[in-house]
Amino acid sequence: MSDLFADAVETLAKAKKTVALTGAGISVESGIPPFRGKGGLWEKLDPMKYAHIDAFLEDPETVWNVLIKEMKMVLDKARPNTAHIGLADLERMGILQTVITQNVDGLHQRAGNSDVIEFHGSFAWQRCQTCDWTIETSRVDLSEIPPRCRCGGILRPDCIFFGEMIPHDALLRSQQISAACDVMLVVGTSATVQPAASMPFIARDNGAVVIEINPEPTSLTRRISNLPLLGAAGTILPRLVKAMRRHQNA
Ligand code: OAD
Repeated sequence: MSDLFADAVETLAKAKKTVALTGAGISVESGIPPFRGKGGLWEKLDPMKYAHIDAFLEDPETVWNVLIKEMKMVLDKARPNTAHIGLADLERMGILQTVITQNVDGLHQRAGNSDVIEFHGSFAWQRCQTCDWTIETSRVDLSEIPPRCRCGGILRPDCIFFGEMIPHDALLRSQQISAACDVMLVVGTSATVQPAASMPFIARDNGAVVIEINPEPTSLTRRISNLPLLGAAGTILPRLVKAMRRHQNA
């Protein structure tokens, strides 16, 4: 066992409030590509052309055809992987209280985490751009693109596009929880998109220990991660759960 891994186990065992901040990397092993880096979505598509609110308002048909339909196909097939299950296990063991996720795939809830802050919203719902009526994505009739609401308005995923504000409650609660935790587990995020990327800094500024799980170093690794654990989340998190079980039973 590496020293950093052993330190992470000891730190989690002592912690009273642990929060996880997750990003696209935790869902890579569920078959959902990340945004940046090798195989990333933004390598194939220019986000300013297809994922910015101005692009959607100008040409919703193209954004639906190029981005949203593709996302739906990928997310429909995805199931929680061993990393999501690991975080749900940590909650059941009384170690983890809240997950703040930048992901819109709903996989943390499906794995069993009960307190999940969806920082960028949720793809499980579509919302009318005109009247705010919502409907489950699975019930939307896609025979007409863009799909429309009963009022005639255009439906859009209930997650944020670039250029939009973070849902107020999600932002406020994430800031409060980050400031009050004593451990933050940062899993599978490049930590490049604000304001989500500021949560580990808020945690660290308030005395928390930052444990980072990622196969690649990120902008956090050298600057603020106390315990960087290099590797895939689907491998490291189950190992962490196993070690925590041994620790709890010792
Ligand atoms: P990124 O695509 O920027 O970063 C994914 C991170 O996951 C990288 O640091 C990878 O090294 C890491 N990674 C890859 N495979 C992994 C694995 N098996 N286990 C653990 N980590 C792995 O994704 P985010 O940081 O989530 O926003 O991106 C943040 C936001 O940018 C997204 O929420 C999205 C995007 O634009 C919006 O759509 C508003």
